[in-house]
Amino acid sequence: MLEGILKFSHHLLESSVCEGELVIDATCGNGNDTLFLSKLVGKNGHVLAFDIQEKAIVNTRETLINNGISNVSLIHDSHANLKDYLLKEENQTIGGAIFNLGYLPRSDKKVITKPESTITAIDTMINSLKQNGLIVLVVYHGHEGGKEEKEAILKHAIKLDQKEYNVLQYGFINQKNNPPFIIAIQKK
Ligand SMILES: C[S@@+](CC[C@H](N)C(=O)[O-])C[C@H]1O[C@@H](n2cnc3c(N)ncnc32)[C@H](O)[C@@H]1O
Repeated sequence: MLEGILKFSHHLLESSVCEGELVIDATCGNGNDTLFLSKLVGKNGHVLAFDIQEKAIVNTRETLINNGISNVSLIHDSHANLKDYLLKEENQTIGGAIFNLGYLPRSDKKVITKPESTITAIDTMINSLKQNGLIVLVVYHGHEGGKEEKEAILKHAIKLDQKEYNVLQYGFINQKNNPPFIIAIQKK
């Protein structure tokens, strides 16, 4: 079966993240991916969940409380500042990460992810990513500013050295209205 975009993004992480690892939700929004990651790593693992919007942090906190989750640090900051939240002295390894790009559904469509910060976050993550770990980006690009971000990310991802990374693009090319697609970066 060809899995839908969100299901496939979770499937990729399920197949690569292990219990007890540190993982990143780069854009927590309403907390759906945060919840998914928190269950994946279990009580010995930890999730760093970022969002620049207070509303997203509030919504995600509510999702986590409703599900009795306690292995998540909610960070009201840009994912571009990820390195400030990694413990340098412990040389922390990241088990995997997810980005859902674009804007928070049913919210201000002007608050969107931006190419520079997304790329800075990817580059920080890649340095600390475990061998065979995955960074999964769900690229929504139908909104204003989405095309520019899509192009910048593709340009960046295509340049990653094939000796060090596998880079996958997954999407439905016969769907109308700018359907989302996945970019997955695997460290060899
Ligand atoms: C498509 S939504 C995420 C949906 C979320 N994954 C969920 O499961 O509900 C994108 C989110 O990215 C956030 N965002 C935008 N720029 C950001 C940045 N630089 N760092 C962290 N989050 C950012 C937005 O505030 C928005 O909540």
